[in-house]
Amino acid sequence: MPPIDLRSDTVTRPSPEMRRAMADAEVGDDERDGDPTTLRLERRVAELLGKERALFFPSGVMANQAAVNLHTRPGTEIILDQDAHIIHWEMAGAAALSGAQIRPVLPAGPVATANDMRRVVRPVARHVTAPSLVCVENTHNGAGGKVIPVHEMRAIRAFAAELGVPVHLDGARLWNASVSLGVPLEDLAAAADTVMVAFSKGLGAPIGAAVAGTAAAVDELWRIRKRFGGAMRQSGIVAAGALYGLEHNRERLAEDHANARAFAHVVNGAGGAAVVPPDSNIVMVDLPGGRAAAPVVKACAAQGVLLSAWSATRIRAVTHLDVAALEVKRAGEVLAAELARA
Ligand SMILES: Cc1ncc(COP(=O)(O)O)c(C=O)c1O
Repeated sequence: MPPIDLRSDTVTRPSPEMRRAMADAEVGDDERDGDPTTLRLERRVAELLGKERALFFPSGVMANQAAVNLHTRPGTEIILDQDAHIIHWEMAGAAALSGAQIRPVLPAGPVATANDMRRVVRPVARHVTAPSLVCVENTHNGAGGKVIPVHEMRAIRAFAAELGVPVHLDGARLWNASVSLGVPLEDLAAAADTVMVAFSKGLGAPIGAAVAGTAAAVDELWRIRKRFGGAMRQSGIVAAGALYGLEHNRERLAEDHANARAFAHVVNGAGGAAVVPPDSNIVMVDLPGGRAAAPVVKACAAQGVLLSAWSATRIRAVTHLDVAALEVKRAGEVLAAELARA
């Protein structure tokens, strides 16, 4: 029996229907003329996010870093939640590629709010490092898929406006946020100047991300993408997978969220573990008394349940379209039993 793989929603494999859409895609040289399927995807993303244009990228990291490069200058600082993907998982790209410093904000609650940011940022003065960008991640991966509501997104936008800087939204899982809140994507995207969305996570596509913004921003992002080595040729093959995911796999994210809640229900309290109540498809399990996560993850893997040791004492499980409700429940039971084994 194949393992139940809850390490991430990036482990999904394209379905036969998605593969067929990819095989049948109309293609051209995207860098030279614009690939027709890629252009179609970019138009659809811009429309869904309520922005003028969008640009396809090979990965979310490249898309985030291109946006950072667009908005910042060397020697300026980016204000963002201390657990942001841009800080932990992007190889210090903001420093290495854009010469920008990170100002991590410790949140009072699960995710940094406008008030948390206001608390740590000094008033603009000539002897204070100049801010150039505020970033926000929705849903917030490191916080356990936490969803930031529209009013808080607007508050962060207002805080950035006080500083006179733009907002970049890392919306790798903005699809999940929109479904969880029951609000249109564009209501969340409206609070940001640029928005990154990813196709290779909950939507089940094999590759790709996009950044949406004004036409002028996307023109400049096109040059930055080329400089970063991300310009593509017959990208319609992969853009078709992303389009398929957009049209067929968005609404069903509600199932992943329900499965995450069911998993949390089974695991919470087992052996004293505390589960962060999931807003979307990510479940964080905190082990009690400094108990190590790695041996628990290893023991579950031996029973066919794959999880991530997110930190020394925290386990992450992510639900997605390749795991059914019964499998998620079984995974929860395996983890709960392992946690109960003192
Ligand atoms: C919140 C967030 N942003 C960005 C990324 C990067 O996306 P990619 O893996 O496509 O580079 C991820 C990947 O998991 C993510 O979770």
